[in-house]
Amino acid sequence: MDHFYTLSNGNSIPKIGFGTWQAKGHAAVAAVKDALSLGYRHIDTAASYGNEAEVGQAISQSGVAREDVFVCSKLKTTYRGYENALTQFEKTLQALDMDYIDLYLIHWPANAKMHSDWEQINSETWRAFEEIYRAGKARNIGLSNFLPHHLQSLLKTAELCPVVNQIEFHPGYFQPDVLAFCQQNDILVEAWSPLGRGNVLQHRTLVQLAAVHGCTTAQLCLAWALAKGVLPLPKSVTPDRIRENIGVYDIQLSSTELKKIDSMLEFGFSGMHPDEVEF
Ligand code: A2P
Repeated sequence: MDHFYTLSNGNSIPKIGFGTWQAKGHAAVAAVKDALSLGYRHIDTAASYGNEAEVGQAISQSGVAREDVFVCSKLKTTYRGYENALTQFEKTLQALDMDYIDLYLIHWPANAKMHSDWEQINSETWRAFEEIYRAGKARNIGLSNFLPHHLQSLLKTAELCPVVNQIEFHPGYFQPDVLAFCQQNDILVEAWSPLGRGNVLQHRTLVQLAAVHGCTTAQLCLAWALAKGVLPLPKSVTPDRIRENIGVYDIQLSSTELKKIDSMLEFGFSGMHPDEVEF
């Protein structure tokens, strides 16, 4: 596969990643192995998903060389701060049984509602990430669920710019202000729940457009994300769907169709607003 985005540091990242949230135990191992055998080369996990060990096992059992797989994990929210982040990163490497990962993300920003010193917490956590990056143990570092005001604050003290920001992004809820801010600052946006956890797939607008293109609504959501320069991370434990979700590169949406999806009323929001809750 030669479908890659180029990050602001010059590194490449496969344009579609395999999401693993809520995949557990044997099902997680099987799903990641299926994904690798079907052509995915980018796997997204997190310490808080409780499946880093399963992801590592699946990769080592898959027959695909470690260096050919792009592996992302994330720092658990309860372990923010400089020392904690360094310690937790080593635990992530141990759980995955790897000596480096391709991308490490701060899973959730500290927010003003829950932390009076939220700016300092995020800044100190990022300092640890910069150290991990400089040591070569994470080939890329980035963020997840950061809104423009969290990003602006972080960029005041950051020595290195985050290369990605992973946010909730699907038809009906795609946070255009965050997308615009990230694109202006050369930060690639990754989409978590690009299918709205499956909840947007029956929407009439999407069903109609998918019929025009002879694709499924899931494929339409993913083609739309790619057309907007975003990296989708669809999750599935079902082999037919895993296959379906990577077969989207040839679906070309017109600017009118893109606008139609962009202008859908809010629908399918998870309720996980970064300033209101922590994950
Ligand atoms: P399952 O894992 O049982 O196959 P998201 O990536 O937006 O979080 O969505 C994940 C949800 O969507 C899961 O419930 C997954 O179910 C379902 N899903 C994934 N791919 C497809 C697809 N191609 N068609 C329908 N549902 C899908």
